[in-house]
Amino acid sequence: MSTRGRSFFRRLDIRFPWLKLVVVCLAGVAMIADLCDLTISHVGDPLNKIRIAPMSHHVRVTKRTLDGKKLVALTFDDGPSPETTPRLLTILFDKDVPATFFTLGNMAEKHPEIIKEAEKKGNEIGSHTMYHQNLITLSADAVQADISQAKSVIKSILGHSPSYTRPPYGNINDNVRRAVSNPMILWSVDTEDWKSKDPDTIIATAMSEVHDGAIILMHDIYPTSVDAVPRLIDTLREQGYEFTTIKELTKARRVALSPGATYYNFRP
Ligand code: NI
Repeated sequence: MSTRGRSFFRRLDIRFPWLKLVVVCLAGVAMIADLCDLTISHVGDPLNKIRIAPMSHHVRVTKRTLDGKKLVALTFDDGPSPETTPRLLTILFDKDVPATFFTLGNMAEKHPEIIKEAEKKGNEIGSHTMYHQNLITLSADAVQADISQAKSVIKSILGHSPSYTRPPYGNINDNVRRAVSNPMILWSVDTEDWKSKDPDTIIATAMSEVHDGAIILMHDIYPTSVDAVPRLIDTLREQGYEFTTIKELTKARRVALSPGATYYNFRP
C-alpha cells in the first residue's frame, strides 16, 4: 500500500473511530453464519439443497451437497402403522435422515395424520396400492381400480398425488404398466426384514448388499425393522453413505423418470 493510502486510512480512523468496530462486527457475523452452515442455495439446484423440517418448536436447516457422494435411499413399505411408524419418523428426524414411504391406501385412509407428518418431516410418500393385492392375478379393470383408489386417497390426504408407485411383491405385467401412470420404484437391496424379524440380520443383509445408488427395502410395520434403523443408519454413515429420498437420488444422478417405467436402483 502507498504512503498516501496508509494516511487515508489513518485519517479515516481518526474521523470515524467507530468504523473499525463496524468492520469487526460484520466479520464476526459472517464467520458465525459460515460456522452454522446457513448458506442459501439456488432453488431448483439438485445438488445443493436446504431441507427444512419443521417440528413443534424448532426448525433445522441442513445444507447438503450430493455430488460425488455415495448415496442410498431407505424405503419403507406397507404402512402407516400407528404402532411403529411414528417411532420410525422420530428416529429418522433425530438422525436427520429422509426416507421414502410406500404407503397402502387403506392404511393411509385409517391413519392420515401419520403420512402427513411423514411428509412434513421431509420424507417422500409413494403409493404401494390400495389393498396390497398381487396385481398380476387381477383383471385389467381391477388393477386400474386399485391403483386409482390408492392415488385418490393419498391425494385427498396430502393435497397432491404420489409421485411413484411400488406394486406389491414387485409384480408387474402389462395391465400394471398400463394402469400405473407413475414411474415404478422397486429396490436393489432386500433386507427381508419381514422374514428374519431380527435387527442384527436385517443390518447384516443390508450391509452385504448395499452399493452406491441403492434402494433399500424395509417395512415400517414391524417393530424389529424400526429397531434396526438407528444402527443401520450409523453403519451406513460410517461407510460414507448419504441418505436421500427417491426424488433427491434421481436428481443427483440426473435421471429423468418415465411414467410406467421400472427402476431398481440409481447407480452413478
Ligand atoms: Ni408390501
